[in-house]
Amino acid sequence: MKSKQNLQLVRPALDIEAIRQDFPVLHQAIRGKPLVYLDNAASTQKPRAVIQAVKDFYEKDYSNIHRGVHTLSERATIAYESARNEVAHFLNAKSEKEIVFVRGATEAINLVSQSWGKKFLKAGDEVLISHMEHHANIVPWQLLREQIGIELKVIPITDQGELDLEAFEKLLSKKTKLLSLVHISNTLGTINPVKDCIKKAHALGIPVLIDGAQAVAHQSVDVQDLDADFYVFSSHKVFSPSGVGVLYAKEAILDSMPPYQGGGDMILTVSFEKTTYNEIPHKFEAGTPNIEGVIGLGHGIQYLKHLGLDKIKAYEEELLSKATLALKEIEGLQIIGEAKNKVSVISFVLKDIHPHDIGTLLDNEGVAVRTGHHCTMPLMKRLGLPATARASFAFYNTVEEIDALLRALEKAKKVFG
Ligand code: ALA
Repeated sequence: MKSKQNLQLVRPALDIEAIRQDFPVLHQAIRGKPLVYLDNAASTQKPRAVIQAVKDFYEKDYSNIHRGVHTLSERATIAYESARNEVAHFLNAKSEKEIVFVRGATEAINLVSQSWGKKFLKAGDEVLISHMEHHANIVPWQLLREQIGIELKVIPITDQGELDLEAFEKLLSKKTKLLSLVHISNTLGTINPVKDCIKKAHALGIPVLIDGAQAVAHQSVDVQDLDADFYVFSSHKVFSPSGVGVLYAKEAILDSMPPYQGGGDMILTVSFEKTTYNEIPHKFEAGTPNIEGVIGLGHGIQYLKHLGLDKIKAYEEELLSKATLALKEIEGLQIIGEAKNKVSVISFVLKDIHPHDIGTLLDNEGVAVRTGHHCTMPLMKRLGLPATARASFAFYNTVEEIDALLRALEKAKKVFG
């Protein structure tokens, strides 16, 4: 095992100790040991700025939005729409009309499949995904396959956990009507070359959806530079409340799509004979949304901007390389997913110890990791594994926490002899 000294980082540009003070949940003991939270790929912790914004909203401004002329409703509407503006800037969307709030990345993909897919796809059309997709970018297309008879094609991956780009190009054909691709794998950490993939798909007139659920917390995303037609992510993975997600879609595409759900706020006029719909993005936001969650997301993004995504990326890259080197020194440990371009997500297996047992033994030491199939069962099958343990790092993690993980793993090995 590497010594703590070897693991030290060279002058991190972020003041990690100060940053950790912004996250109340990190300062607690689990089973008598300091919490080491390494389950950031599953969900991220919330800074005080987000918690306070949600609390303030409930205590001072709470009301429904878009519906009242009274002061509280106006305040709530302004706060909600300001968050939309914040998200539009965060993704560098051309207009805030291109930002639809939903429940999560999962709902965003379901929205595209059920609205855009049902209108623009027909039996025999192909949707191209990859072997490293999260279930959220598989099952909605299977539902559509059952409903209208589309075909689902899968880009294979290499043993290192990268997209097989030659196979990708061969799979693009006249029948391909959508490429729906994960930006960064939640299980392997692989960063896919989505800009190139979009370019290749666009050259054949194929629109592209990018699942950015795992990407937006680790690096800045510019939807105009990527030229993505759809980009989705979840608020809870960017240090913001759960129950909120974002669908970005180019304005002309959103305009061409029928509503996904019907109800209040998405209409202009309703009679029993005919209903007319509101403008985008409101056409896709039926019913009272998660107002406080959206407001929290706006503050979460402000917090990330204040830290600087470039600094976050640089720091996490260092954490990744230190943790990778150190984990590789543990006898019997195998890292699953060794793509050249990765974020700070490390899946691994350890000797004959079942990942769930690793998870439990690590929890005894205060270390939180996720174990299981990570909502990527086809990927697990491709890797020939039932499950992995996964340590995923955020900017508030430290070198000392890598050390704690290593110590806990050595202890787990001893338990299993
Ligand atoms: N998609 C989340 C994960 O990777 C829940 O754990």
